[in-house]
Formats: sequence, C-alpha cells, structure tokens
Amino acid sequence: MALTTVLAVTTLLVLSVSTPAAAQAASPPAFSPAPAPAPEFVNLTNLLTVAGPFHTFLNYLTQTQVLQTFQNQANNTDQGVTIFVPKDSAFSAIKKPAFANLTGDQLKSLLLLHALPKYYSLAEFRNLSNLGPVSTFAGGQYTMNLTDDSGTIRLQSGWANTKVTSSVWSAYPVAVYEVDRVLLPKAIFAVDPPLAPAPAPTPEAPVADVSPAPSKGKVGAPKPSEDSTNSGCMAGGFGYMALAISGALMIML
Ligand SMILES: *[C@@H]1O[C@H](CO)[C@@H](O)[C@H](O)[C@H]1NC(C)=O
Ligand SMILES: *[C@@H]1O[C@H](CO)[C@@H](O)[C@H](O)[C@H]1NC(C)=O
Ligand SMILES: *[C@@H]1O[C@H](CO)[C@@H](O)[C@H](O)[C@H]1NC(C)=O
Ligand SMILES: *[C@@H]1O[C@H](CO)[C@@H](O)[C@H](O)[C@H]1NC(C)=O
Ligand SMILES: *[C@@H]1O[C@H](CO)[C@@H](O)[C@H](O)[C@H]1NC(C)=O
Repeated sequence: MALTTVLAVTTLLVLSVSTPAAAQAASPPAFSPAPAPAPEFVNLTNLLTVAGPFHTFLNYLTQTQVLQTFQNQANNTDQGVTIFVPKDSAFSAIKKPAFANLTGDQLKSLLLLHALPKYYSLAEFRNLSNLGPVSTFAGGQYTMNLTDDSGTIRLQSGWANTKVTSSVWSAYPVAVYEVDRVLLPKAIFAVDPPLAPAPAPTPEAPVADVSPAPSKGKVGAPKPSEDSTNSGCMAGGFGYMALAISGALMIML
C-alpha cells in the first residue's frame, strides 16, 4: 500500500516535472518569431542641435556629461527616456548669476530634473498626471508635478511653471519635448531667481502659434557649408527636422 502511494507520488512528480520540460522543448519555434527590429538609434546631440534652438541646454548637458547619461539610458535600457528641453530664450530670461553660481552637482541635478528615466508619449502623460509628483532622473527630492490641462501638458517644479510647447521627437525609446521655462527647484534656488530685463518681451504664445516652419528652417540654413562633406549627417539633420515639424503639427491638432 505504502509503496504504491510512494510510486504514485513519484510518478506524478516525474510527470509534473517532465511535462513542462517536454512542452518547453517543443515550444521554441512557436515562441521565437523574427525578433522585433531594434529601435532606431537617436543621436541626442544631433537632435538637440538641429531643433530648438536648444544650444544652452545642450552645452550644459555636454559640459556636465549628463548627455552621456541620457544617451546611455536611450541606448541601453528598455525604459527609454523623456527629456523636457528649455529653449535658449528660457535660459536667457533668467539673470546670469543664478546659473553661474551653481556648483557642478547642482547643475547636474538641475539638468537631470528635466528628464524622466522612461519614455512617455504625449498620450501617456494623461495617465501619469493622476499620479501626483513624478520622480525625475535627478531622484530624491527632485520631483515635478505634471498635469494634463485639456491637452496641454503642464510642468511645475519649485519656482517654475511651464508647459510642453512642442514635441520635438517622440518615438520609443526617446521623447524630447520643448518647454518654455527652466525648472527651478527650491532645493537649489532658495529664492525665485530674478528675471533678466527682457529686451523685447514676447507674449506667451499659445501652442497653436508655435509655427515650426520658419524657425526650424532658419536652423538648417547656416549648415550647408559646415556639412558639405557629410551629406549623410545633413540628411539625418533634415530627418530630425521633418520629424520635429510633424511633431509640432501633431501637437497643434
Ligand atoms: C552624434 O552626433 C554628433 C554631432 O553630429 C557627432 O559628433 C557624434 O559622433 C554622434 N554620435 C554618435 C554615437 O553617432
Ligand atoms: C549609443 O549608441 C550608439 C550607436 O550604437 C553608439 O555609437 C554610442 O556610443 C552609444 N552611446 C552611449 C552613451 O551608450
Ligand atoms: C554669485 O557669486 C558671487 C561671487 O561669489 C556673489 O558675489 C554673488 O552675489 C552670487 N550671486 C548669486 C545670485 O548668488
Ligand atoms: C492609461 O491607463 C489605462 C488603465 O491603466 C490603460 O488601459 C491605457 O492603455 C493607458 N493609456 C495610455 C495612453 O497609456
Ligand atoms: C507639487 O504640487 C504640490 C501641491 O501643489 C506642491 O506642494 C509641491 O511643492 C509641488 N512639487 C514641486 C516639486 O514643486
């Protein structure tokens, strides 16, 4: 009796062990279709050079090597990256010493605060915005509040309120969205940094007024001499520009 039970149990165990193994042996052909094509490599330097103008942000990214952190996240993780890039005018609107006095670590944190270590399409922000403060690439206390205001994505962190004014690039694993202010965390700026005297104050443009064609066209104009020996690079630049423009058009709809 006892022996029969043991045998029965053993048989069951053997069966339960061997069945999945057999199934596994049979399954690989069914489970390995052609691998999905690897996502296109996005060169963040190129992208930020042709769009914008984002030269100030790009220079800070290069100087602090945060650029490699972002590129590495884009290249080598499944999560991807979302970067909110302030235009040059957003930096020039703030009085110089506010940034000149930052320590290297503060500058790094400030830049990392402008990114999320995950790719988000604009549509996905609608879900995110219900989660309250969103942690950023800078971690810890460096969070931002993201809200979806009838289709306009608003960002707030510390002293600054801003919004996504244009989608520069949004294809997994990289999203780059233009914002019109620099985020100013209270952990770095104890007081609201003073604004530089505005030479010609531009009224806050509604999203529909972000007309990509004239400004993006100007960006491309000075390039040909520089790039005459490298048509591949040039074509890449126009590709980014075309996408930036279509992204901006999409955001207007
Ligand atoms: C990215 O683009 C920059 C500027 O065109 C170039 O100097 C750099 O080599 C590129 N990096 C890669 C990894 O292709
Ligand atoms: C990203 O990928 C490109 C192309 O494969 C490579 O040239 C570059 O060095 C990578 N950069 C980083 C930071 O991983
Ligand atoms: C920046 O540093 C300089 C020299 O240390 C100091 O005089 C100035 O008040 C500082 N400015 C700000 C905005 O902290
Ligand atoms: C938003 O969240 C819902 C529920 O979790 C999910 O079904 C939907 O696909 C999400 N939408 C986007 C755009 O991520
Ligand atoms: C996010 O919003 C809450 C509520 O208004 C506020 O208390 C908090 O300071 C905000 N977070 C940041 C990083 O500004």
